[in-house]
Amino acid sequence: MILRVQQPLTELAARLRAATRITVMTGAGVSAASGVPTFRGAGGLWRTYRAEDLATPEAFARDPALVWEWYAWRREKVASCSPNAAHVVLARWSASAKASAGQVPRDVRVVTQNVDDLHIRAGTRDLIRLHGSLWELKCFNGCSAGATTWRDERVPLPDGLPRCPYCGGYARPAVVWFGESLHGGDVNRAVEATACDVFLTVGTSAVVYPAAGFVHHARSLGAFTAEINLEPTPASSLVDVSILGAAEDVLPQLDRVIS
Ligand code: OAD
Repeated sequence: MILRVQQPLTELAARLRAATRITVMTGAGVSAASGVPTFRGAGGLWRTYRAEDLATPEAFARDPALVWEWYAWRREKVASCSPNAAHVVLARWSASAKASAGQVPRDVRVVTQNVDDLHIRAGTRDLIRLHGSLWELKCFNGCSAGATTWRDERVPLPDGLPRCPYCGGYARPAVVWFGESLHGGDVNRAVEATACDVFLTVGTSAVVYPAAGFVHHARSLGAFTAEINLEPTPASSLVDVSILGAAEDVLPQLDRVIS
């Protein structure tokens, strides 16, 4: 077991140390140790709930109260959680990257699929959020003023459904639902970030596109690719190094080796 984890870890650490451009893409597994439920693993949200009932525009149109009840519960859950060691390491990498004296300057970008704010609370700079945020709302009717998202951090939400301050219609969480497109600007920034020396994917089941495709893209551009996950994923056979382990253990280990 130690050999299986240690050897790829040493190789990844050497690659990270030599890299000037590092991109890390994260998924729900990075927040699991903080107590935020994942989607597909044991205890995952999609094991208990149907995405079609809770995370589509059609579901919201049918029953906005039900959808808001679920999002209000998730907001409360996340509000009670704190960043873990994985968030902390990534935040430090992103923040110290350009400033580390006496070392090769590093450009570290973090791309996340997570709608919690734990990367932000840990201090990650220039985070690219592919699937939006639980703490931002937008107009469900798509009125022009309400198309720009606004922050709403109230926990719990007051009685009654959140409303668009511009047109008075229902407000919705500004997260990407099934069947919806991602923000073009976020996708472009993520695609740009695939041009890197090391592309590391952490705590994602690697099944939801376009996010799942970025590791392939990075590899086709010549990046060294690696994965950290508790279990094998569709990306495992593709990456140069696959480390089976918990993000909150492996990232601090890597950090110690490369610092
Ligand atoms: P998933 O729930 O699909 O996958 C979480 C992954 O994290 C699994 O592969 C687990 O094995 C792994 N994992 C769990 N705990 C871990 C830990 N401590 N350390 C390392 N790995 C761990 O979550 P995502 O891949 O993020 O979409 O899901 C992608 C998207 O599907 C989400 O953003 C969400 C969902 O539907 C939207 O909300 C649009």
